[in-house]
Amino acid sequence: MRKRIVAGNWKMNKTPAEAKALIEVLKPLVGSSEETEVVFCPPFLDIAVAVEAVKGTNIKIGAQNMYYEEKGAYTGEVAPDMLVGAGCEYVILGHSERRGYFGETNEIVNKKVLKALEHGLKPIICVGETLEQREQGITEDLVRLQTKIALKDVSPEDAVKTVIAYEPIWAIGTGKTATNEQAEEVCAAIRKVLTEVYGKEVAEEIRIQYGGSVNAGNAKELFAMPNIDGGLVGGASLKADFSDIVNA
Ligand code: 13P
Repeated sequence: MRKRIVAGNWKMNKTPAEAKALIEVLKPLVGSSEETEVVFCPPFLDIAVAVEAVKGTNIKIGAQNMYYEEKGAYTGEVAPDMLVGAGCEYVILGHSERRGYFGETNEIVNKKVLKALEHGLKPIICVGETLEQREQGITEDLVRLQTKIALKDVSPEDAVKTVIAYEPIWAIGTGKTATNEQAEEVCAAIRKVLTEVYGKEVAEEIRIQYGGSVNAGNAKELFAMPNIDGGLVGGASLKADFSDIVNA
């Protein structure tokens, strides 16, 4: 039985003081969630404050990115050890905004996934198509490829620690959610590729999230689909409404 996981990707929002204030609002609402794992992914500079603020609750903290080298002359980058030392348990990797604005390729995402796992961080690996790719009918091919390359050389023991987030780019921040059926279709295709690579037993253990305009109104139905084990939430994770999504 896969434990549901709902993560808030705060993106480039909230100063440390604002992060603390938001967590104080959300903590009583989602802090004792047992059947759903709750993860907040604030910007790097808010991580220390967030880790402190969630102490004594079940909320986990994740980062939104990470570099794949251990340390050294990589100005502006953040190393896996730094995230671990700061108290992160998760790290979002390969978000479409990283891929789109910062040129992250499938190969870079794979390097990051391997490095995160080596340091005991659990990667939330994002995959998803543009509207143009969907209209061209290549969604499943693309998502299969993104998933397979991201997990290249990842052992079955490590694969079960990863979470795959299916985020159609056309649904991100647009208020245009994929239908339950569209989301389930792609998440099922992801489960299929995981089965091909790792076998049924491992594939059944890996959690797959849907992300893209998830809100309090649509979360319940999306999360009820057989291959959707929770959500990666952007905009709606910055409000008290996030608790309705977790409780969905
Ligand atoms: P929105 O929920 O704002 O559409 O963002 C989704 C997302 O990109 C989460 O990573």
